[in-house]
Amino acid sequence: MSDKVTIREVGLRDGLQIVKGFMPTDTKLAWIAAEHAAGVTEIEVCSFVPPRLIPQFADAEAVVNGALALPGLAATALIPNLKGAERGLALGVHKLNYVMSVSERHNLANVRRSTQESLDDFRRIVALVRDSQVPRRPKVVGGLSTAFGCTLEGRVSEARVVELAVALVRAGADELTIADTVGYGDPAGVRRVFKAVLDNVGDIPVAAHFHDTRGLGIANALAAADTGIRAFDASLAGLGGCPHAPGATGNVVTEDLAFLFESMGLATGIDLNQLLQVRKIIEASLPDEPLSGGLARAGLPRGFGGHALAA
Ligand code: COA
Ligand code: ZN
Repeated sequence: MSDKVTIREVGLRDGLQIVKGFMPTDTKLAWIAAEHAAGVTEIEVCSFVPPRLIPQFADAEAVVNGALALPGLAATALIPNLKGAERGLALGVHKLNYVMSVSERHNLANVRRSTQESLDDFRRIVALVRDSQVPRRPKVVGGLSTAFGCTLEGRVSEARVVELAVALVRAGADELTIADTVGYGDPAGVRRVFKAVLDNVGDIPVAAHFHDTRGLGIANALAAADTGIRAFDASLAGLGGCPHAPGATGNVVTEDLAFLFESMGLATGIDLNQLLQVRKIIEASLPDEPLSGGLARAGLPRGFGGHALAA
């Protein structure tokens, strides 16, 4: 198993999508630049959704263009449908993160269609990207939300997660992301589901996306890492939630997740001290948002020398 882990910042999307106030474009770009400078190599910078639905992403084009100017940064964006893919393709994002839910009711609430319709749309997106004449084709990522439970349906079938993961791969996904959107997951279930997915999807990168709603985010990330997962979504200061998941708090905290892996000898490439400084941008811009994070509260242990710091 690799001793390197990729932590992908999703706070600018998963976090900002539920924040009430609009974060100015320049502040978003300052956040992206500072986190990239701290060693984060992949950032989900926005969502291509109708601006009237989530006004926070009305400046998606400007944010993507700013992020694409940073050398070495993979700038990715969430897309809920074909129209989102067209917007991302036109701008040249590196990855299109398509989202559909395992839970039928959550999918209806979130993207207003059945899971079957979402799968059909995904096939159209893959075809659009494959046939496009752009200089660099984006990767198309198949994302499965509510893979560990749903606020509307409760339990979610593990077999159904595997079935949809296989369907996304057959439809042409370059990568997968399996997400605990509402923080229902536990380490035992996470181990089972990721193992089953990895056993069935062949040689394709699979990433994990956890929320810390019930305090198990870090434990779940560790359980996924045990199965061989080496790509994780996280949100700086734990900013985040889900509009259709009442009470869902933010993603796993980027700094704490990086600290976990660095302390285990898994290199993230992130300078933790520098990463902690980036929180100041959020604090200044969103003074009313509750921010979380153990590392920010207590600081690095004396003499701590993780991979990135020792390098
Ligand atoms: N970007 C911009 N505009 C879009 C769009 C997109 N990705 N998708 C649709 N639209 C526009 C259409 O062009 C249409 O515009 P018009 O009224 O001027 O003709 C309008 O939005 C309605 O289009 P429709 O296809 O009927 O969409 P809908 O109203 O059924 O909404 C989604 C479907 C998928 C666009 C919407 O439910 C959505 O964005 N969901 C994602 C929510 C989210 O981000 N959740 C959190 C992340 S998990
Ligand atoms: Zn999420």
